[in-house]
Amino acid sequence: MQKGIGINNEHLIPAFPYTSYAKMRVEDVLDIKAYLATLPPVKNPAKADEVFALPVVRRGLGLWKYVGLDEGKWVPDPSQSESWNRGSYLVNGPGHCQECHTPRSIFMSTDDSQAFRGGAHPEGEGKVPSLVDLVGRERYKDAKDLMSAFQFGEMMGYDRMSSGGMGNVQQNISKLPESDILAIAEYLVSLK
Ligand code: HEC
Repeated sequence: MQKGIGINNEHLIPAFPYTSYAKMRVEDVLDIKAYLATLPPVKNPAKADEVFALPVVRRGLGLWKYVGLDEGKWVPDPSQSESWNRGSYLVNGPGHCQECHTPRSIFMSTDDSQAFRGGAHPEGEGKVPSLVDLVGRERYKDAKDLMSAFQFGEMMGYDRMSSGGMGNVQQNISKLPESDILAIAEYLVSLK
C-alpha cells in the first residue's frame, strides 16, 4: 500500500493511489489490513487487465517511482490546531484527495507547486475543480457550510460534488465521525 509493490513483487499501477498512502502512518495501514482480513472471502475472478502492454508499463513504473514517488511522510504542523492537523492527515494520506485535485507534472506525479488547484480528470471526463480559497470564491460560507456539503451532498442542494467520482467520495466522507468531517472542512477552507 505504501510502495506500490504487489504480492508477486511487481510494480503496481498508480491508479491504486499508493503515492498518497505512502504518507499514512504505518499503524493505520495495518489497521486497514486487520479489518480487511475479517471480511469473508468472495469467489470473484479478477477481470483481465485492460492496460495496454502491461508488462512493459510495469517495468517503466520502476523508473517512474524513482523520479515521481515522494515517500515523504505526513508531518503535523505545530502552529495549527489538532483538528486542522487531523484534516490535513485525512486529506493528504488516506483520503488521497490530491490524486484528483492537484494537476500533474510532466512526470505524471502530482505537481506540489500547484497543490489542490484542480486540473484534468484522471478518467478523462471534464475538469476537477480547485479546492483553493473555497470561501473567498464564495463556494461555501465557512467550514461548517462545507461540512454540511460533505454530510448531505445533493440531497441538501450542494451540487458541486456529485459527478466525476466525487459523488462516491462525498458519500464515504459522510460516514466519518462528525469531528473528522469538520476537520477535513477546516483544513480545506484554510487552503489559500
Ligand atoms: C476521482 C477523483 C476525485 C477524488 C479522489 C476527489 N475528488 Fe473532489 N471532486 C472531483 C470532481 C470531478 C469534482 C467536481 C464534481 C461536480 O462538479 O459535480 C469534485 C469536487 C469537490 C469539491 C467541491 C468544489 C467546489 O468548487 O464546490 C470539494 C470540496 C471536493 N471535491 C473535496 C474533495 C476531498 C476532500 C477529497 C478527498 C477526500 C476529494 N475531493 C477527492 C474529483 C475528485
